[in-house]
Amino acid sequence: MNPIIRREGGDILESERFRQCREILHHKGTNVARHSLEVAEYALFLYEKKHDPRTDVRDVVRACLLHDIGMTDRKIRESVSFLKAYSHPVRSAEIARDEFGANQTQIDAIRYHMWPICFIPPLSETGWLVLRADKHCANRDVANEVIKVLHLRSRESTAQTKDTEYAEETKGAKETEEAKETEETKETKETKETKETKNTEESKKTEET
Ligand SMILES: [Fe+2]
Ligand SMILES: [Fe+2]
Repeated sequence: MNPIIRREGGDILESERFRQCREILHHKGTNVARHSLEVAEYALFLYEKKHDPRTDVRDVVRACLLHDIGMTDRKIRESVSFLKAYSHPVRSAEIARDEFGANQTQIDAIRYHMWPICFIPPLSETGWLVLRADKHCANRDVANEVIKVLHLRSRESTAQTKDTEYAEETKGAKETEEAKETEETKETKETKETKETKNTEESKKTEET
């Protein structure tokens, strides 16, 4: 973990609210706590590449860690995904203000991180960093999930093809063996018949003599 995250957001990481975030599944393959940490890491990466000198790194870290904290609210968690997309930034901003003393920059960054789903775009560079990092991590999580499903499917179809090939090979080998056996049986029968005919002829000759 980037040490700046612990320095600026240590109290959030150790809070009961953030602990609850570990239990809440997010984007299928992750949970809210892990996602929020990844968002903070990526936003810091963007921040370190280039930022306005007026943008405070503390605001960036804290807004990232708190942007989805509203998901701890049971009512929001259990609402349909369309409503959840609108309501969780509002609830996250309330929790950030009431429980973690968020300033206005952090509140706005959290409040508008779902743009363009919510109609107002971020109002500061902090807000844009949170939004870009959030979209990046969400897209990656979804892509990973799709790749995992496709990979599993392709493995299943490869296994099926192998089973079919094996079944066909076994069938072919069985047929060849059966044909060989039939051929051998036919040959044995013919040899027996020839032998019998010969014996009969010899017996006839002896009788005549
Ligand atoms: Fe969100
Ligand atoms: Fe998020």
